[in-house]
Amino acid sequence: PVTSAQQVGAWAANYIVAQINAFKPTAKRPFVLGLPTGSSPLMMYGQLIKLHKAGKVSFKHVVTFNMDEYVGLPKDHPESYHSFMYNNFFNHIDINKKNIHILDGNAKDIDEECKKYEEKMLSYGGVKLFVGGVGQDGHIAFNEPGSSLASRTRIKTLTMDTRIANSRFFNNDVNKVPKYALTVGVGTLMDAEEVLLLVSGHNKALALQMAVEGSVNHLWTVTALQQHRKSIIVCDEPSTSEL
Ligand code: GLP
Repeated sequence: PVTSAQQVGAWAANYIVAQINAFKPTAKRPFVLGLPTGSSPLMMYGQLIKLHKAGKVSFKHVVTFNMDEYVGLPKDHPESYHSFMYNNFFNHIDINKKNIHILDGNAKDIDEECKKYEEKMLSYGGVKLFVGGVGQDGHIAFNEPGSSLASRTRIKTLTMDTRIANSRFFNNDVNKVPKYALTVGVGTLMDAEEVLLLVSGHNKALALQMAVEGSVNHLWTVTALQQHRKSIIVCDEPSTSEL
């Protein structure tokens, strides 16, 4: 644990940079980074941009896969995860745009889109480091309560709780929040070599308690990480109040 949400972001950014810099990329095996959206990673992206501008890291040999995307929002909608990622991160670093992968929530054939996404990850040898946040109900990516812990990339119906939590980005109007999303599965996350989970704020205290002390179960999908060979939780003090 660190003291503040800002320190969670700084810790995560430093960790990612150290991992990228320690890695010897080849054309066949670039550094494959899984990325989240949401409020939790915002400071991490800010810090990564700063470190990049200071010459401490290059993203030229980094390939990214985002966790999830809403279904039915135009790509250029300000609240699409495409827009979030370009505005808060990709537009400010030296990543090759061809190396960016984000699920297409407007794909005509959704099953095909999800299958291709998994195949693409595998073609790079799998994800080296998946960074994620956690929902108040313990979801990772958009693996809502009840998701199979073996799930792969697919479409999910968002719970009303999640839509209410995310309505803050849609003028507090829950009806404007999409009802569905495409998301990597719990199984997809478990296949990453490492998972780094960012948790901050008192509203995540219960989710963090379940993640650390709860039994592994599909109602709190974050608990699956207890069985991951290398998962790290970086959290602030308010989020630890139920531990
Ligand atoms: C959304 C995302 C999750 C994220 C969660 C928490 O539901 N799909 O990946 O972890 O929000 O977001 P925040 O960090 O904004 O609390």
